[in-house]
Amino acid sequence: MDEEVPYISISDVTFHYGSAAPVLQNISVQFGQSSTTVLTGANGAGKSTLLKLLLGLLSPQQGKIHVAGKITKGRALHELAGDIAVSLQSAEHQIFSPTVRKEISFGPTNLAKVNADYLVADAMEMFSLSEYAERHPYDLHAAQRKLITLASAVAMDTPFLVFDEPTVGLSMPEKNIFAKALSLLRKRGKGYILVTHDAAYGFQHCDRILILRDGRCVVDGSLSHFLIRPDASAAMKNAKAQLPVSSRLSRLFGQRPVATTVRDFVPFLKEKANDY
Ligand SMILES: Nc1ncnc2c1ncn2[C@@H]1O[C@H](COP(=O)(O)OP(=O)(O)OP(=O)(O)O)[C@@H](O)[C@H]1O
Ligand SMILES: [Mg+2]
Repeated sequence: MDEEVPYISISDVTFHYGSAAPVLQNISVQFGQSSTTVLTGANGAGKSTLLKLLLGLLSPQQGKIHVAGKITKGRALHELAGDIAVSLQSAEHQIFSPTVRKEISFGPTNLAKVNADYLVADAMEMFSLSEYAERHPYDLHAAQRKLITLASAVAMDTPFLVFDEPTVGLSMPEKNIFAKALSLLRKRGKGYILVTHDAAYGFQHCDRILILRDGRCVVDGSLSHFLIRPDASAAMKNAKAQLPVSSRLSRLFGQRPVATTVRDFVPFLKEKANDY
């Protein structure tokens, strides 16, 4: 799809659970098909609720949501699942199949993908799960089960994916596996939203940042522009997050574009040191 035409369009959306106060208020954001966005905000800011609205699991009381050019209201969930795949925050508790392969096959099989076997094998490979294909998911440790849920979303081969807190419970080896998977998804032209409190991780894998605060969108723009804003640190603190250390140091030393990793910052620092 043309990058100019948004793949996801959220227009003036307000949502509240029952008669409670609104959890999201007047949200208007758009996402291009290949866009990569880190979505952050304090606990309770409304991040997971926003994702559930995108997936049609919840309906807004006000405003409209379009996914792949179609309004989500009234669309069957299994139909929407072909346009946008998700790994939910508590997805691990939703694992129900007797083998890793069957669990990851569930999505592509239900979407009647003709190449389902290939998609499942590819996703298992991406997440280093191939050797456990015939094992029961609960024979694997918790971090690997989290990888199963991420692989299940990827295997659906949708143009766009959303990952809600994908790195919670992952140690460094699994985080690296997911990092490689994200790079590959980008190469394949997939778009995604990464919900995370781990800014250092999110910044490495996304071009755009969205911050929710008390149900309102307070930051929405390119990550590189955000990082040169004087109030970037304050905006992150208000979201109960922190700029990555490498970005803070990079800003302090006036590096442009601002680094998001130590790997990007250190060569600049060495160069600077040569001046002294
Ligand atoms: N099913 C529900 N019924 C009533 N209120 C809910 C429900 N789910 C979430 N909420 C409330 O809506 C608000 C937003 O919750 P949400 O889960 O979207 O936040 P979040 O930004 O994802 O937080 P976290 O970082 O903790 O995952 C919170 O005040 C939460 O208590
Ligand atoms: Mg959440």
